[in-house]
Amino acid sequence: MNIILNGSNGRMGRIVAEAVEQGGAHAVVAKVDWSYAAGDGYSELKQYEGPADVVIDFSSHAATQAVTEYCVSRGLPVVIATTGQTDAELDMIRAAAKAVPVFLSGNMSIGVAVLADLARRAAAMFPEADIEIIERHHNQKLDVPSGTALLLARRIQEARPDSELLIGRHENGKRTRREIGIHSLRYGNEVGTHEIIIAAGNETLTLKHEAEDRSLFARGALAAAEFLAGREPGLYDMKDIVK
Ligand SMILES: NC(=O)c1ccc[n+]([C@@H]2O[C@H](COP(=O)([O-])OP(=O)(O)OC[C@H]3O[C@@H](n4cnc5c(N)ncnc54)[C@H](O)[C@@H]3O)[C@@H](O)[C@H]2O)c1
Repeated sequence: MNIILNGSNGRMGRIVAEAVEQGGAHAVVAKVDWSYAAGDGYSELKQYEGPADVVIDFSSHAATQAVTEYCVSRGLPVVIATTGQTDAELDMIRAAAKAVPVFLSGNMSIGVAVLADLARRAAAMFPEADIEIIERHHNQKLDVPSGTALLLARRIQEARPDSELLIGRHENGKRTRREIGIHSLRYGNEVGTHEIIIAAGNETLTLKHEAEDRSLFARGALAAAEFLAGREPGLYDMKDIVK
């Protein structure tokens, strides 16, 4: 696959470029990042008109309009790995997915996708269980709770439509069965751990995913790009990969 990599000068962009180089099966044919000075790469997608099979976007949700317009105009599949899209940006993504295959996931880890599926199944098997999610991240992380904790909670809610999310526990009083508690710990260099506790009376199930480094997101994004090859237009996500 010939890959156009948007956000290639960022932390994730560099890791993806390295993973492509190491893997040997694919090539990054255009590195795009608005921080590039002339000669380093392209500062905008529209500057590249050469051959390509897919766009991988690890820049910023603010690039959504430029990314979707470019992919639709060129008929290219796109993996959108950025997080924090506004409602208007999500609308742009849904509109683009009518014309080209679009893969959207704020967490490209295949392990987290499997975890989400297991959590949903476990929640369905134990409808009375207390469910708590604990997420741990490094001390520089801005968003609380993590997007991944919310993603896990929403998958659990598919099996528990009457549940409500409790972000942090601040008040005295007993928990209710309807609550899904989410608790955020921030310390040191922790890359990211998500733990789901499903306590069903006299048995407790604990499901846990630990990220060791960010290269797992790059691997997942490349798997997503491979998944899109030859697909019909539509909106895909990690659930489609772990099916
Ligand atoms: N889906 C996942 O698994 C996953 C994993 C990690 C990070 N992310 C997301 O990926 C994005 C990038 O993360 P990061 O840690 O590499 O950030 P970063 O700030 O290190 O890198 C972003 C890069 O994109 C460039 N950029 C920003 N806006 C641009 C635009 N409009 N056009 C072109 N280039 C632009 C910046 O110059 C920067 O080099 C964030 O949205 C982050 O939340 C997703």
